[in-house]
Amino acid sequence: MSNYHIKQFEEYFQVYRKSVRNPEQFWEEIAEEHFMWQKRWDSVLEWDFTKPEVKWFKGGKLNITENCIDRHLPTRGDKTAILFEPNNPTEDAEHITYHQLHQRVCQFANVLKDKGIKKGDRVCIYLPMIPELAISVLACARIGAIHSVVFAGFSSKALSTRINDCDAKMVITSDGGYRGQKTIDLKSIVDDALNDCKGIENVLVAKRIHSNINMKDGRDYWLQPLLDKANNHLKAEVMDAEDPLFILYTSGSTGKPKGMLHTTAGYMIFTAYTFKNVFQYTEDDVYWCTADIGWITGHSYIVYGPLANGATTVMFEGVPSYPDFGRFWDIVQKHKVTQFYTAPTAIRALAKQGTEFVDPYDLSSLKVLGTVGEPINEEAWHWYNENVGKKNSPIVDTWWQTETGGIMITPIPFSTPTKPTYATLPFIGVQPALMDENGDEVKGNQVDGRLCIKFPWPSMARTIWGNHQRYKDTYFSAYDNMYFTGDGALRDEVGYYRITGRVDDVIIVSGHNLGTATIEDAINEHQAVAESAIVGFPHDVKGNALYGYVTLKDSGESRNHDNLRKEINQLITDRIGPIAKLDKIQFTEGLPKTRSGKIMRRILRKIASNEADQLGDISTLLNPEVVQNIIDHKL
Ligand code: PRX
Repeated sequence: MSNYHIKQFEEYFQVYRKSVRNPEQFWEEIAEEHFMWQKRWDSVLEWDFTKPEVKWFKGGKLNITENCIDRHLPTRGDKTAILFEPNNPTEDAEHITYHQLHQRVCQFANVLKDKGIKKGDRVCIYLPMIPELAISVLACARIGAIHSVVFAGFSSKALSTRINDCDAKMVITSDGGYRGQKTIDLKSIVDDALNDCKGIENVLVAKRIHSNINMKDGRDYWLQPLLDKANNHLKAEVMDAEDPLFILYTSGSTGKPKGMLHTTAGYMIFTAYTFKNVFQYTEDDVYWCTADIGWITGHSYIVYGPLANGATTVMFEGVPSYPDFGRFWDIVQKHKVTQFYTAPTAIRALAKQGTEFVDPYDLSSLKVLGTVGEPINEEAWHWYNENVGKKNSPIVDTWWQTETGGIMITPIPFSTPTKPTYATLPFIGVQPALMDENGDEVKGNQVDGRLCIKFPWPSMARTIWGNHQRYKDTYFSAYDNMYFTGDGALRDEVGYYRITGRVDDVIIVSGHNLGTATIEDAINEHQAVAESAIVGFPHDVKGNALYGYVTLKDSGESRNHDNLRKEINQLITDRIGPIAKLDKIQFTEGLPKTRSGKIMRRILRKIASNEADQLGDISTLLNPEVVQNIIDHKL
């Protein structure tokens, strides 16, 4: 039996037991047998959650790009590493082999060095989903610079805040990007942002949309001519296991984004190991994660995890709706994708369009389907299972966070029996705990609580850049000696975990805790409903009452809204109980979403609470225009 590749349910239990009984021995074996080191570590793990401080493989020396690229060259040099599928379906896909990736990363790294970037410097990357994005990430890692990728849908204000927070010296961007029928002028957003950023010395600009842009003399450089002149070999910088690899910003409960800092060896090992097992990756697979590299899912499961396994990883520039809602399935068919990893919001959007966009495509190459980012409702799970997986591909509902670096709770496909809406069991080495309000661990099954992790895992974030106190306060202060996730979860009768949503999304009505995800599941079962979001608003008798925002599959004009309201409340009563019935149900054209597709309940909560004048900055929303419409029709 190999600890590295788990193929059976029994093996999962055996390996899991090993990993928690003797974590140091377990991870040491994985590190030794499956990765390339320049010097062995002095200790496997040192940790103290009270500080908090965690060090994996202290004293070990390595470079993650040697593990992701160089070591594959003798055996996989001509294999496709990155398969780039452009926005425009008539443009050819680009197959970048491991050899080519090596050359391009080295060239790029040489350009960075020429421009004065050194180990430890921060480089901000603000690029669309083009190969330069993955290559620049790896180029930073090659020379030990800390990359901070900012999703290219963020506004200039959001960008400048992130650049300044980490004192970045350089921005890597492009003239613009394609998204469906639209083009986005990224360089002008960068120019705007840089009015507020004094520390930026250079901007490297990739050419993608060939638009007319401003280039500031002495600061801005076109990338290609520099690459053309650069040497395509570069010895990788020797990094300590705990040297920073990247910063990635995530929003917190307060306004300022948190720069989560990930380090080198533990992150590499855990993303590689989870990738192998969660997707049951084998050598000839073509793996596709639809996330943007601007999010943690893209960092861990488009770039580092797949490449550390020598995989072929698809990078898609476009959107699921262009040129029509069949695009995902067209790509699956065209490249014979074997693993497909996406977000529930995408599944729901596609399901809304009906099966005529799926049925024409040959999806028989698919082996494993994944979801991530939010709880998947039952209806979407079944739609995915039936129409995409043809009931033949296990769905891995993977729970994790920017902070965790890698997948934490998940089925192992073909091993763990799946159950809709359940992320099922902890991954190898992950020790979850459910905690009650008194700070006690809730033991046993058929219980719920706040989800914590009680033992370090290799890819956990080590700090918030520049604010270790905030790191401690946010994650290690709610419960003694525990990492607190901010999520609520339940454990069923067999020990499966179901993530019920952010704890701050739990609404207490008449003293009862109600999970918004559970209520939304019930509402979404209604055949006329496309999507819904529940928030609390102050109620003088119940403390809080529930306000539901509901979008309908067709605009709903033909339906009697009062009848629909009754039917929805009946469904809720049937599924949960009368306590969860909604006081108000507003039908709306859309729900405000972040660029990563999460519903912004904070905004809905403010509107429901008559605080629409305190919404704050909504410019980073995917669809800010829906907000006014919701305010105008508030009940
Ligand atoms: O609430 C959980 C939810 O997404 C949060 C983490 O968001 P982010 O840092 O943006 O990372 C998303 C991609 C890893 C979690 O605290 N979440 C993530 N995956 C799931 C989920 N909720 C339910 N089920 C999941 N599978």
